[in-house]
Amino acid sequence: MKKIALGICSSISIYKACEIIRSFQKEDYEVQVIMTENATKLISPRLFSALTGRRVIVDLFKDEFPDEIAHVELAGEVSLLLVAPATANMIGKFASGIADDFLSTFHLAVKCPVLIAPAMNEAMFLHKQTQANIKKLRETGVRFVEPEKGYLACKDEGWGRLAPVEKIVDTSFQLLHRSQSFAGRIFLITAGPTREYSDPVRYLSNPSSGKMGYELAREALQRGAEVILVSGPTHIIPPPGARIKWVQTAEEMEREVARFFPKADVLVMAAAVADHRFSTVSSQKIKKQKKPKTIHLVPTPDILQKFGKKKGKRILVGFAAETEKVEENALKKAMQKNLDMIVANDITKKGTGFGSDYNQVTLVFPDGKSIRSSKRTKSEISAMVMDVIEEKIGKGS
Ligand code: PMT
Repeated sequence: MKKIALGICSSISIYKACEIIRSFQKEDYEVQVIMTENATKLISPRLFSALTGRRVIVDLFKDEFPDEIAHVELAGEVSLLLVAPATANMIGKFASGIADDFLSTFHLAVKCPVLIAPAMNEAMFLHKQTQANIKKLRETGVRFVEPEKGYLACKDEGWGRLAPVEKIVDTSFQLLHRSQSFAGRIFLITAGPTREYSDPVRYLSNPSSGKMGYELAREALQRGAEVILVSGPTHIIPPPGARIKWVQTAEEMEREVARFFPKADVLVMAAAVADHRFSTVSSQKIKKQKKPKTIHLVPTPDILQKFGKKKGKRILVGFAAETEKVEENALKKAMQKNLDMIVANDITKKGTGFGSDYNQVTLVFPDGKSIRSSKRTKSEISAMVMDVIEEKIGKGS
């Protein structure tokens, strides 16, 4: 599928969209241009129609696309949505999920990677609200080509100038290449906590939010994988496109992993599985007066260790939440569980790990080698993890 959608908003840098279109055409890509109403006031859609040989889409309900769900159909045909130039207004709409024109509606319909190249006045770009919108979008996996400092349309020098066309096009091709790298592969990913009940309302658990596992799933999907996401209870929305299997307990998680493991190429366990459960589970709520004097706990199944023994040609990745001797303990777990890699997080670090949007990790390999990250969003950490998996798949693991 060699087709991309190019969203064009109103900015003085709009003329650079012509060069962007040419660069894609040189690589045999079809380009479907979507303009905002305001963009058409700066430049006629006829120019882009002439360049692409296709009608430019502006309005959701215009007669050239009589079918009201054209945005849904087109969404399934493109491998990238690039918005260049993107205004503060469109970035704000994307971040808030507003869908009041073709481009913003289309953004909600696509499952392919989204790349945004902002262009605006410096004050607008550095405004707290614009930065918050960019941060929010980054956290949902949207990529940005940062604008540069330079001479702006308002005759000021400053940040906000559209990034060079070559940079926008290079980043697009990186994403396009990646969007196919896991095609035909099945990824089984676990996320979130488990709950081990003593009665219908009380349980043992941990503060895992599911964010890390969901970002991993999103990243694998963006690279073309089929993703089965086995998730403990969370309050966040799973990435669209993942086949989701909800579980509560470690035993339920084990059952779902067992169900899909035979056909999986990759198993990534980011779930924080409780290590113990209550030895007995009461079917009725235990009365205050009847509270037990001692609580008996028994170990839960170690899912990763069990499937590590049946690894075959699969790639197995674990996570390790550690409070001391982080890399040393993680390495031990990688060996015990027969893993290709373990992602070690030091959960004593504030603002990372459980519940946070950020993580700071070390990728530890069974041969003792390791790669350290700085504090980065969970979306960026997921890209790091998937880059390693991609390399291993490339080497025929
Ligand atoms: O969900 P978030 O809020 O985004 O937080 C992310 C996270 C901190 C939960 C995540 O990054 C993480 O570290 N997950 C693993 C936590 C953990 O259970 O670590 P562990 O060292 O206890 O387990 C090691 C590995 O064995 C893990 O891959 C775990 O999924 C697996 N395991 C553990 C116990 C068990 N009974 N069965 C398992 O398969």
